[in-house]
Amino acid sequence: MQVNIPLKKVVDDSYDITIDTLPKIHFDTKVAIVSNPKVAGLHLGYLLSKISAKELYIITVPDGEEYKNQESIDMILESLFNHRFNRKSLLIAFGGGVIGDMTGYASSIYQRGIDFVQIPTTLLSQVDASVGGKTGMNNKYGKNLVGAFHQPRAVYIDPYFLTTLPSREFGAGVAEIVKMAVTFNKSFFEFLETADLNNQEVLQEAIKQAVQTKADVVAQDEKEHGLRAALNYGHTFGHVIENETKYKKYLHGEAVAIGMVMANETSVKMGLMRAEEAQRIKALLQKYDLPTTYTIDDVEGFYETFFLDKKSSDSAITFILPVGLGGVKITDRCDKELILSVLHHFSEQDEEN
Ligand code: NAD
Ligand code: GLY
Repeated sequence: MQVNIPLKKVVDDSYDITIDTLPKIHFDTKVAIVSNPKVAGLHLGYLLSKISAKELYIITVPDGEEYKNQESIDMILESLFNHRFNRKSLLIAFGGGVIGDMTGYASSIYQRGIDFVQIPTTLLSQVDASVGGKTGMNNKYGKNLVGAFHQPRAVYIDPYFLTTLPSREFGAGVAEIVKMAVTFNKSFFEFLETADLNNQEVLQEAIKQAVQTKADVVAQDEKEHGLRAALNYGHTFGHVIENETKYKKYLHGEAVAIGMVMANETSVKMGLMRAEEAQRIKALLQKYDLPTTYTIDDVEGFYETFFLDKKSSDSAITFILPVGLGGVKITDRCDKELILSVLHHFSEQDEEN
């Protein structure tokens, strides 16, 4: 005997991303703003001048990637239970990608899922992490290995928050902007080549184009069955660099910048990109003081570490390779000798920055 549960559904999870000065918003429900002491110290006053709610609570968790873990999630959940949040209550993620990912994850599991809103405060989280509904945390097995796809109800990107961002963090966000342009949008790349992102208006336009690019990708492949993996351009190599340097030497976006240079070299060797195009990408990254060189001490060890990447199956490594400017190829069929020759080139380099 079989019992069938008919669960075919049409879900509309569409939402708006507003890129502008934060409007005044009132929520007629219980709301908790989740942040960390650094962001709250700098910007909570401004946020509270804009956001009001039937009941409003502030939850802070410690700052840093090392706190993107179960303990912080438990702190958030405990506070929600203590304040008797119900299924109509709402969370606001107020911080960088770490806060955004954890707040989204906590909201995806609290009472089997409540709504949340993203108010990202780093450039990286404004152009990438706050958009697309990937939420999660790290554990002892690796980064972002526990999580859920849970779309925010809205995203508010206010470039004002970036005025207090340290320059390295700004550069890390630029790396993700370059990532979107190289893989999906040649004219955006050309705009970036001549633009100065230190100019507020230009920056706002770049954020808009990066977010639009990511939104288009997510709309086509929300759960990363294919195309969305292209947003990991630079990450296959970058994750190994982060792993080798114990997540201390480089910010994520900096490791991705070096990873993009390595991916570009692979593309050039495979005839997918011209050397001159790879050079233009490198020059753009260097314009924002991003590192573009790295010395690989152990080429075989570097190659083996690829297999720790969660996008790779046991036997194949997934590479995201740019095709010229504005195109991308996702492949797990790269010749090992070709990859080793790229890595050997980096074993002969001196790090410049
Ligand atoms: P982060 O959240 O750690 O922020 C970087 C630092 O900047 C922190 O110390 C933070 O407190 C501080 N900060 C935040 N806003 C500030 C401001 N306005 N002024 C001064 N300091 C400020 O790091 P991040 O780069 O924003 O995000 C990285 C995280 O995002 C990683 O955990 C990564 O896995 C995740 N991520 C998620 C996605 C996604 O699609 N969900 C995409 C990319 C990255
Ligand atoms: N940052 C990659 C993604 O959102 O898919």
